Amino acid sequence: MALILLRLVFLTIFLGFIAAQQKTGSVSVGASLTATADVKPWLSFSGEFAFGFQQVQGTDNFLLSIWYDKIPDKTIIWYPEEGQMVPRGSKVELLRESGLVLTDPQGAAVKGLKFYFAPGLKSSCTGTGYTGKFVIFGSNSRKIWDSFDYPADTLLPSQVIERGGGMNSTISATNFSGGRFQLRLLQDGNLLLNTRNILSGNPLVDYYRSGTSDDSNSSTSGERVIFDATGYMYILRRNGERLYLTQRGSVPSGDYYHRATLDSDGVFRQYYYPKNSTGNASWEVVLYIPDNICEDIRGNIDSGACGFNNVCNLQDGRPNCKCPRGFSIVNPDDPNGDCKPDFTPSCYHEGRFDNGGDMLGFIELNNTDWVFSDYGNLDPSSEQTCKSICLEDCFCAVAIYRDAKCWKKRLPLSNGIMGATDNVKAFVKYRIAEGPFQNPHRLPRERKDQTSLVLVVSVLLGTSVFVIFVLIGVICVGFFVIYKKKPRNTYPISKAVETNLPPFTYQELVEATDGFKDELGKGGFGIVYKGVIGKKIVAVKKFNTVVHDSDKEFKTEVDSIVKTHHKNLVQLLGYYNDGDQRLLVYEYMSNGTLAMFLFGDTRPTWRQRSYIAVGIAKGLVYLHEECSTQIIHCDIKPQNILLDDYFNAKISDFGLAKLLMMNQSHTNTGIRGTKGYVAPEWFRNTPITVKVDVYSFGVLLLEIVSCRKSLAFETDDEGVAVLTDLAWDCYQEGRLDAFVENDLEALNDHKKLATFVTVGLWCVQENSSLRPTMRKVIQMLEGVIDVAEPPCPCSLSITSY
Ligand SMILES: *[C@@H]1O[C@H](CO)[C@@H](O)[C@H](O)[C@H]1NC(C)=O
Ligand SMILES: *[C@@H]1O[C@H](CO)[C@@H](O)[C@H](O)[C@H]1NC(C)=O
Ligand SMILES: *[C@@H]1O[C@H](CO)[C@@H](O)[C@H](O)[C@H]1NC(C)=O
Ligand SMILES: *[C@@H]1O[C@H](CO)[C@@H](O)[C@H](O)[C@H]1NC(C)=O
Ligand SMILES: *[C@@H]1O[C@H](CO)[C@@H](O)[C@H](O)[C@H]1NC(C)=O
Ligand SMILES: *[C@@H]1O[C@H](CO)[C@@H](O)[C@H](O)[C@H]1NC(C)=O
Repeated sequence: MALILLRLVFLTIFLGFIAAQQKTGSVSVGASLTATADVKPWLSFSGEFAFGFQQVQGTDNFLLSIWYDKIPDKTIIWYPEEGQMVPRGSKVELLRESGLVLTDPQGAAVKGLKFYFAPGLKSSCTGTGYTGKFVIFGSNSRKIWDSFDYPADTLLPSQVIERGGGMNSTISATNFSGGRFQLRLLQDGNLLLNTRNILSGNPLVDYYRSGTSDDSNSSTSGERVIFDATGYMYILRRNGERLYLTQRGSVPSGDYYHRATLDSDGVFRQYYYPKNSTGNASWEVVLYIPDNICEDIRGNIDSGACGFNNVCNLQDGRPNCKCPRGFSIVNPDDPNGDCKPDFTPSCYHEGRFDNGGDMLGFIELNNTDWVFSDYGNLDPSSEQTCKSICLEDCFCAVAIYRDAKCWKKRLPLSNGIMGATDNVKAFVKYRIAEGPFQNPHRLPRERKDQTSLVLVVSVLLGTSVFVIFVLIGVICVGFFVIYKKKPRNTYPISKAVETNLPPFTYQELVEATDGFKDELGKGGFGIVYKGVIGKKIVAVKKFNTVVHDSDKEFKTEVDSIVKTHHKNLVQLLGYYNDGDQRLLVYEYMSNGTLAMFLFGDTRPTWRQRSYIAVGIAKGLVYLHEECSTQIIHCDIKPQNILLDDYFNAKISDFGLAKLLMMNQSHTNTGIRGTKGYVAPEWFRNTPITVKVDVYSFGVLLLEIVSCRKSLAFETDDEGVAVLTDLAWDCYQEGRLDAFVENDLEALNDHKKLATFVTVGLWCVQENSSLRPTMRKVIQMLEGVIDVAEPPCPCSLSITSY
């Protein structure tokens, strides 16, 4: 009966899960979106991110993209490679045979989209709740495609760039084609920013190098760029050290979106945005690279930060490009692009070679220089001489005069900068007949709202979908033994058979605990009080209610408990039983429970945590295999692990499963086994074995590794993340750094960390026969035997077909 009820509960949860999957956060084969202005996108589980078509401002074109749906400007964070826009009426569809397919309004496939087969939209590795991604899963729940592997121009927290990876900027805020700038992590470990040729894609000039490389396979060379879940970006070196790009302490903590975008102006910026803003918030910059893009892009084969003939003026790290007097912008949609002269620059004029003579004049520009493109110089020179040698040379387009030196420049002019030095003058030659340009009114068109133009797309990510894996608590106890009511014995068991356990009198325990005053903790079984017996501090466990079973059975159980002696078990010192009252006396553990230690204010060190994990495993091996009667604990969780003076882990409450009463199984208070830790076989008609403890240990191990609670990290009202899912996602993606929230000590001990997580994943296998024994767990944790790659511990397969 109890089993049937439990199964009903389980079924309901399962259905709820499927329904939730289809409501938001997930799509199935057959789903499609058509590019129209009012089409509803596919939302992430949290509703923060959307996947769909966004109409490009001022055009009738649409971009298939992912964006922050709760931010008014719907900042875009991802689009397919090269940002190809499609006309109204285009369609994206999830097909069983060919995957995600983009077609134009006539139904022809649009090329260039690298999507693959499979249904399902789910985000993962979203521990702290503000990251997400678009993931396509196959029928076996294996990830097939992940937008994080194909960054557009933006990185999101928990995204990584591997060697050989990188991103391109967009041309502008409204044209998502590949722009002039590129960010790459080279094979040698250097993070590089460079300009590139838009047509050929070839890299041109480097303007930032992280210096994390070596020509040999040095341990200090960069391995990957990590944008971690807390909003810090760093280069992880081979030896595990980090070169932080984001300055420590510069990122606000709290509810913010974070992104890092290679903007269309060539600056790589990290931004944040308050999640609950009421409308006027904007993206704030915490980091930009390089410091001075106007000066840092230097090279003869490119135009510099701005286009040819353009002049760069740095404001807040932003290249403010402005055509000089006498020039105007070629493409008004690209204010950072090239400028063309408003006069005829050639030596050839009206069909003849013409050096101009009296027909030429100069536009004088203060504090302006074009650093490259010179072909001749005069040193020393006067300002007057400088002008005249340029005037006489029909190839000379500009004369630069500085510190009694003169340079002749020809078109197109490159690397124009303003304000770098204040004693430099540029004399731009023009034809008087086509002028005048001296008057300030003849200025090139001003840019409109610079910020909105430069603001490029950002990234985003998606968040969340979580699988709700709610396993409800079960009654461990009840399944074992049915106790029968027996006549009560009014005396403590003093003539204890088969045991040398000291029986206490009730009065002794009242005195020891000062009348049950100092409460140490509460559990499903009752309350634990602190007490003193002799000089020894003890913990006295007082059961709420007592099943009126046979004293002999109680004694048998207590006896099996008392016979256990192991460094990692809490030692039972004595007991009291009169049929109405039952008390157990244990040694007192000064450092409290593992739950307090693990989830308290300060994170315990990795050394302490791994030592504790191994200790618990040893205690369980003893209970399962080494003590005279096998003991299944049934309720392994951090609240049941105590720590002594030296932080040795001590398992408590073992053996109690059988001591608790059968009749409590029908009431809420009697439910034992704890949500988040109970093995799936409790919901099935399968035998309960020691493997239920292995399962709970697996959950506990993952908690110890990550310092996260198995069910507690809520991302949003809608979702509860399950630690085992998170562990699996992070494991699969090689993102242990995200799993341990950048615990440096653990990450530097990478082999052990990987082993612990892998063992944890083996322990939480749905199929109990796949779970290792605790003895094998110990061997794996201690590195005695190798750990194989675990299968997915997914308990519920996504059935979207
Ligand atoms: C975007 O820029 C590219 C390169 O300049 C150009 O070929 C393309 O036509 C532009 N697209 C739109 C929609 O303006
Ligand atoms: C960036 O540009 C390079 C060529 O310079 C190209 O190979 C690469 O695929 C582009 N990356 C993206 C994400 O568009
Ligand atoms: C660096 O390591 C890679 C792979 O381990 C190897 O192919 C390459 O030859 C090594 N290079 C040097 C210079 O040792
Ligand atoms: C955002 O939420 C935080 C705390 O949840 C609050 O202190 C802050 O005032 C909120 N900001 C806005 C703009 O609502
Ligand atoms: C939004 O902007 C308006 C006007 O600029 C200002 O009065 C208001 O305080 C701002 N609100 C917030 C939450 O910053
Ligand atoms: C350039 O500077 C000189 C002296 O500082 C000044 O007389 C002149 O008006 C300035 N020219 C322009 C175009 O600002």
